[in-house]
Amino acid sequence: MVKTLLEAFNKAEYPVVGHGKRHVQVLKNTFDHLDGEIDSDIYGTGKVIEDFQTKMAAYLGKPSAVFFPSGTMAQQIALRLWCDEKGSKKVAYHPLCHLEIHEQDGLKELHHIEPVLLADKDRLITLEDVRNMKEDIACLLLELPQREIGGQLPAYEELEAIAAHCRAKGIKLHLDGARLYEILPYYGKTAAEVCSLFDSVYVSFYKGIGGIAGAILAGEEAFTSQSKIWKRRHGGDLISLYPYILNADLAFDERLPKMEQYYQAAVELAGMYNNGIEGITTRPVTPVSNMFHVHAAMPKEKLEQILIALYEETGIGLTGNIRDAGEGTSYYEVSLGDRYAAIPKDRLRQAFELLHEKVKQTLI
Ligand SMILES: Cc1ncc(COP(=O)(O)O)c(C=O)c1O
Repeated sequence: MVKTLLEAFNKAEYPVVGHGKRHVQVLKNTFDHLDGEIDSDIYGTGKVIEDFQTKMAAYLGKPSAVFFPSGTMAQQIALRLWCDEKGSKKVAYHPLCHLEIHEQDGLKELHHIEPVLLADKDRLITLEDVRNMKEDIACLLLELPQREIGGQLPAYEELEAIAAHCRAKGIKLHLDGARLYEILPYYGKTAAEVCSLFDSVYVSFYKGIGGIAGAILAGEEAFTSQSKIWKRRHGGDLISLYPYILNADLAFDERLPKMEQYYQAAVELAGMYNNGIEGITTRPVTPVSNMFHVHAAMPKEKLEQILIALYEETGIGLTGNIRDAGEGTSYYEVSLGDRYAAIPKDRLRQAFELLHEKVKQTLI
């Protein structure tokens, strides 16, 4: 007997979201392809790390790039550097950005930096918000797409206008590009074009790219060389990072060309959710990347019961994790990757018909 939603999801014949299991085989596959004589990197130096940094700098259109074990470390350091340069302790970002809600206040506790929370938590930061800001900040951090509100994006023209404003006011612009590759098909831009609007950029290797862990921080040489000093101070200069780097490199080459496919999959799947199932909607209605949120006008526990039964009857697993959204509502994140293409479309359609039925019965 399946007890939890996660158990039911893990047992489903066709899990819909993600690339696949995060198990040891991922690393084994990486090393299967590689020459055992490749030398390890050592404390941030050596061919393995330097070649990958050069490759990523070129891809992002920046003079220099540094590999970090985590985005959390890379971004706190980026903001610290911009604050030190300006002699200020203030930055601005969205109230639901990763630094504010997922990092145990690292930025405040370790660097004594005070964030100005821009915009309402339910919407994107606008040019107006930036223009109306009273505080004299060193840096504005923009997260593209804004994950916690379903992966929304500003219009590209608005982004350009925010960048121009920041440049004119002497405010550095930093990109939280944890999901940068995933938004390029929608914007119809290259990574370098988007990054040219920003002074510093962080990208991840374990979201759309599907690697194990790791991050790149890119910018001008003067900025990245300072970031290496802080990486050492944070204990991020592991003697060997090659398992992450070699895996990230392989996953990058394999999945970067598939970002359009993941994006189209998200648009298609959101269409199925938005096909008249009472109380169920997606945010955004039409995705602008490979992700979106599903909102349900029913409590988490009720939705879990429906989905567990649905997975058992259809073999289709929609999510393993539902969050409470207050006032008797709930939501979950959908992020599409390699798995989606393997699902027979008729099985998926049947699952959505059954979901429709089950939700209707619950509401009667
Ligand atoms: C938008 C965003 N920024 C930053 C991070 C931090 O990345 P890491 O887990 O590598 O520290 C994440 C991770 O989920 C993220 O989603």
